[in-house]
Amino acid sequence: MTEPIIEVRDVVKRFGKTMALDGISLHVEKGTVLGLLGPNGAGKSTMIRALTTLLRPDSGEARVGGFDVRTDGQRVRSIIGLAGQYAAVDELLTGRENLELAGIWYHLPKRECRHRAQAMLERLALTDAADRQVKTYSGGMRRRLDIGASLIADPPILFLDEPTTGLDPRSRNELWQFIKDRVDAGTTVLLTTQYMEEAEHLANRIVVIDKGKVIAEGTADQLKEHTGGATLEIRLADQRDVERAAALLAEVSKSEPRTEPEQRRISIPAGQGIEMLLDVGRRLQQAGIALDDLGIRRPTLDEVFLSLTGGTVPDRAGSMDHAGSPESEAAR
Ligand SMILES: Nc1ncnc2c1ncn2[C@@H]1O[C@H](COP(=O)(O)OP(=O)(O)O)[C@@H](O)[C@H]1O
Ligand SMILES: [Mg+2]
Repeated sequence: MTEPIIEVRDVVKRFGKTMALDGISLHVEKGTVLGLLGPNGAGKSTMIRALTTLLRPDSGEARVGGFDVRTDGQRVRSIIGLAGQYAAVDELLTGRENLELAGIWYHLPKRECRHRAQAMLERLALTDAADRQVKTYSGGMRRRLDIGASLIADPPILFLDEPTTGLDPRSRNELWQFIKDRVDAGTTVLLTTQYMEEAEHLANRIVVIDKGKVIAEGTADQLKEHTGGATLEIRLADQRDVERAAALLAEVSKSEPRTEPEQRRISIPAGQGIEMLLDVGRRLQQAGIALDDLGIRRPTLDEVFLSLTGGTVPDRAGSMDHAGSPESEAAR
C-alpha cells in the first residue's frame, strides 16, 4: 500500500451562508495525480486554498506531506508548489525575471535562481521568449511560465487550479505533457478541472465534488461503470424512420429508447451486449430500415459527470470546445 501524502478529513469552510466545503474528505497517494472535478462554484479553488494554507478551514483536518495545514503552515509551504486559476506572473517582467523572482521567494541563493530559471526556460520551451516582457506572451505561454515558477524549487507536491481553462487545444496538450513529465519525475499532483477529458487524461483517481460535497470518486473507468454501463446506439440513414426504429428498439429493451431525431440517433441500455446488437441489427434489416451506424458505446466521462451533477447530456462534439471561449495562442 502506498502512503497518502495529502489527507483531508471532514473539512468545512463557510463564506457567510455559502457552504463552500461541506465536510470534504479525500486523500492523494504519493507520486499520483488526483483530479478534483466539479462544476463552477463546486468548491475546488476553496479546497486548493485550504490545502495551500491560503485560507483556514472552519473545521476538519488537512495534512500535506504529514504537516497540518493549520498549525504547520510554514512547513507545508516549503514542500508545495501552487499555480492558480489565473496566471500570477508579472506582466512587466520578462519570463526569465519571473522565474528568478520565484526562486527568491523560495529563499534560493541568487546564483541558484539564475541557474534554475535557465533550466526551467528550456524545459518550458520558452528560451526564445525568455527575455521578452510577459505581456507579449500568449495565454498558453503565461500558464506554462506560471507552472514553471511554482516548480522552481522542485517541490514534491504540486497544486494546479484549473491549469488549462481558457487555453486552446494545442497549448492544453503542451501543458498536459509538461504535467505528465513532472509526474514521471516523481511529483505528486492535485489538480482541479471542470473538464472530464482532462481528469481522464491526467488523473490516476478522480474525486467529483459539487456544492462542497464529494459526490463520487474512483478511476475514470469506475465512474463510468457507476453510471450504468454501455448503451446500444443506432444512427439512421433517414430521419423519417425514427419513430418506427424507436418502436422496434422498445421491443428489445426494458427501458424507453432515448431518441435524438435531429441526429437520427436512438439509444437503449446495452444490457446483453453483443447478442442484443445482433438482434437489433436483424430486426432493423427485416423492417427495411437503413442504418448509418450501429454500435455499443461506453458512456463518456462527460455523461458520467452530468448524470452525477444532474445536468443534461451535451452533444457529443466535445464539451472542451464548447466550455468557454478558448483564448487564441496569439499574443493578446
Ligand atoms: N472569498 C469568498 N467569499 C465569499 N464566497 C466565496 C469566496 N470564495 C468562494 N466563495 C463561494 O464558495 C463557493 C465555492 O467557490 P470556489 O471554491 O471558488 O468554487 P470553484 O473553484 O469550484 O468554482 C462558491 O459559491 C463561491 O461563490
Ligand atoms: Mg475555481
